[in-house]
Amino acid sequence: MNDKIEVLITEEDVRTRIREMAAMLSEKYEGEEVLLIGILNGSVFFMTELAQQMSIPVEIDFMAASSYGAGTESSGNVLITKDLERSLDGKHVIIVEDIVDTGRTLHLLKDLIQMKSPLSVEVAVLLDKPSRRKVSCDADYVGFQIPDEFVVGWGLDYDQKYRDLTFIGIIKQD
Ligand code: PRP
Repeated sequence: MNDKIEVLITEEDVRTRIREMAAMLSEKYEGEEVLLIGILNGSVFFMTELAQQMSIPVEIDFMAASSYGAGTESSGNVLITKDLERSLDGKHVIIVEDIVDTGRTLHLLKDLIQMKSPLSVEVAVLLDKPSRRKVSCDADYVGFQIPDEFVVGWGLDYDQKYRDLTFIGIIKQD
């Protein structure tokens, strides 16, 4: 681990905010059938904490998507590499993501999920980088809005490393 990482959001602040989000969701969906859909890989740490902090029972499922094409950010193509395992009939879906950046991943996945006719679809993200948005995509629940910095931790990686950091850090280039 030779990369220099500066703390942007402390572990305590992340956990406190996720508890607040979990409380909001628990209150809203009390008595309903809720399915959390995590978008792999980045969502797993946030989704685990969110589900465990919610006071109502939830089911979980996962999807995966990857950007592709020349210059992935500008190409705007998103490929589904893992689809859902179960029906969405009678479910209130909450899509769970670590970050919304250009918005392309969530925009596509939300459309695909809505086509399967669940009772409702909302989006919860831990981090939002609004300055990077390329397509319209607003999350219903946002942990933190952050500046356009390269962040790691809580599922976010740098070359597949640092997903397991318990704080949100910024990679500092020397
Ligand atoms: C990251 C992140 C989101 C997406 C956000 O996933 O987890 O899914 O990018 O970017 P967007 O708003 O510009 O679409 P990534 O493809 O890096 O895969 P990972 O979750 O496995 O790290």
